Amino acid sequence: MTSLSGITPSGRLTLGNHLGALRRFTDPDGFYFVANQHAMTTKHDPRRLRTLTREMATLMLAAGLPPGTVFVQSDVPAHAQLAYLLECTSYVGELSRMIQYKEKGRGRPMTRASLFTYPCLMAADILLYGTDRVPVGGDQDQHVELARDVAIRFNREYGETFVVPQLQKAALAMRIKDLANPTAKMSKSDEDNAVGTIRLLDPPDVIRRQVMRAVTDSDGEVRHDEENKPGITNLLEILAACTDGDPVELAGSYETYGALKSDVADAVLAVIEPLQKEYARLASDPGAVDAALAQGRDRAIEASAPRLRAATVAMGLAGST
Ligand code: TYM
Repeated sequence: MTSLSGITPSGRLTLGNHLGALRRFTDPDGFYFVANQHAMTTKHDPRRLRTLTREMATLMLAAGLPPGTVFVQSDVPAHAQLAYLLECTSYVGELSRMIQYKEKGRGRPMTRASLFTYPCLMAADILLYGTDRVPVGGDQDQHVELARDVAIRFNREYGETFVVPQLQKAALAMRIKDLANPTAKMSKSDEDNAVGTIRLLDPPDVIRRQVMRAVTDSDGEVRHDEENKPGITNLLEILAACTDGDPVELAGSYETYGALKSDVADAVLAVIEPLQKEYARLASDPGAVDAALAQGRDRAIEASAPRLRAATVAMGLAGST
């Protein structure tokens, strides 16, 4: 079983990224990477991209991922190389149906072409390593489905080359919501909405204040009800994810919103503070971070080479006539 996942450095990491993805990166032989090439599909600032890539890689190491499992996508050229081959096996029709493209780019002439082909790069990320399992939050399901479709089609047209990956759904925390706008996803690229987004590296007192100010409703009853009580339900989901509890059962333990919020703040900080301490330790030792990322890069280059070669030969770009 090979597990693989990536995180795009399009903003500073959030609690949603941690609960939905990062803390599920637990395979000691997995491949976990900073998807920096994915951060170029919309207008970007090169300096900020560099800074965020480093911060994210350091946080992944701080989360306890073993050194050889963490790398930066652009350090492994096979990702971009296979992506082109997969663009030649994907259809405009299926790429047009991707929700992310529809929401962020369709119909706008200045949309970067890479936003349209982005799912092919993501499929390449996954298929290069013989990945069986892809731990991601709910918003990535459609992209993993596309990777599956591309693998099946490639194998049929050019011969058995790729393992068909599985989505690995989390029981909880598939979609942590914004604290200020609990019907929307908590998103790291949402710079305007600082109040509703918990950043993993924000000071603990800021995080506590954000939880205490989370938007709720006025009926006063603590109940798990996504449709009518999105704010309270989101807080219960966060509490459950941080304490390994059950959100519906947890609701029964609270009489007031204040008591719930206070416990959510404690539980979130109990998850985040150790991560921040380890981050501070690693950030003060850049040589150790460089060495860990070089180890991850070398292992990824070695592991990805055979499948890139097989795909290249299968498509007629190499091999004997
Ligand atoms: P990205 O960077 O948007 O998000 C990283 C991971 O965090 C999850 N996530 C959430 N989970 C729960 N609640 C939320 N509010 C929340 N917000 C984000 C995402 O589902 C994701 O798992 N395209 C990917 C990165 C990527 C990738 C890959 C993932 C590139 N190549 C190959 C898996 C395999 C992305 O932009 O995720």
